Amino acid sequence: MTWETQIGNEISEAKQWLDKNELVGIPTETVYGLAGNGLNTQVLAKIFEAKNRPYFDPLILHIGNIEQIDALVTDFPQKAKMLTRVFWPGPLTILLPKSELVPEMVTSGSPYVALRIPKHPLTLELLQHLDYPLAAPSANPFTYVSPTRAQHVLDNLGGKLPYILNGGDCTVGIESTIVSFAEPIPKVLRLGGIGIEEIQTVLPEAELAIQHMPTEQRLQSAPGQLMVHYAPKCRLIPIESDNSLSLGLNDALLRFSKQCKTNERQTFYLSEYGNLAEAAQRLFSLLRMFDERQFETVYFEWVPNTGIGMAINDRLKRASSKH
Ligand code: TXA
Ligand code: MG
Repeated sequence: MTWETQIGNEISEAKQWLDKNELVGIPTETVYGLAGNGLNTQVLAKIFEAKNRPYFDPLILHIGNIEQIDALVTDFPQKAKMLTRVFWPGPLTILLPKSELVPEMVTSGSPYVALRIPKHPLTLELLQHLDYPLAAPSANPFTYVSPTRAQHVLDNLGGKLPYILNGGDCTVGIESTIVSFAEPIPKVLRLGGIGIEEIQTVLPEAELAIQHMPTEQRLQSAPGQLMVHYAPKCRLIPIESDNSLSLGLNDALLRFSKQCKTNERQTFYLSEYGNLAEAAQRLFSLLRMFDERQFETVYFEWVPNTGIGMAINDRLKRASSKH
């Protein structure tokens, strides 16, 4: 089935398509999602197919309010409650033991399900009008850069879904932070919109899962932590900030702050004044722009490795590990 994909801002239209078991692009504060009824295996199959995503990579279930969680999990530990009280709605995903209601296809056979209440007002309202959770991976083809505006979704998945709910540019710009409660010590499985330091203000014992240790270089086997991920077509090469390099015609340079002046002409900046939140917000659209303008090689510098900067560096590392 090929759709003539529409972009609009009607929550009721998004709901109609979802109730008819079709897929809808939805805005969240992190990135746009490719959403469908998370309890319906036929719909779930459509999501995997549209993204060309392997079935071993599980999906996050999005809900509109905390009461919905009880039907989806068998346990909601106190520590998890504390974290959600501070960060929901927001860029936090938690992993809890799944109930029978959650199809195996959502969790790729794992006994744990990933859950999140997103903060975007349109999607939050949509979720509150649905009587099922939305499974929603980022709305990009598998391993490509996540979308941060409706047009990105149309560019990548146009024809594969009837409707994209347009909520403007994502304000966070980088995916949610995933915290697992599968073990007594909470583990951060994916760095994201909430820094590990912020998680630790609520749960001081929370720690980074091994794959995010800075020394870790090997290919990841854990679901969704594939090393090559979020990758644009252009080649990304890290440089030391103070390197002097001369760019070829098809090369660009991506710097952190505009305050670090560079003489090279094809230079782009993640942030005007070295603000990490702004850098995160702009990262994915800049990576997409490099592909649109057909740059072959983009040199980049790492950003300060703190707060959301750790998530930015994580994405840059994955995006550059293709080459
Ligand atoms: O910010 C976000 O989280 C966005 C928006 C749309 O909510 N969603 C998103 O979904 O990034 P996705 O599918 O692109 O990434 C979800 C990650 C994957 O790496 C997946 O492997 C992991 O979450 N994940 C989901 N369920 C899991 C589970 N049961 N166990 C372990 N990892 C899981
Ligand atoms: Mg993704």
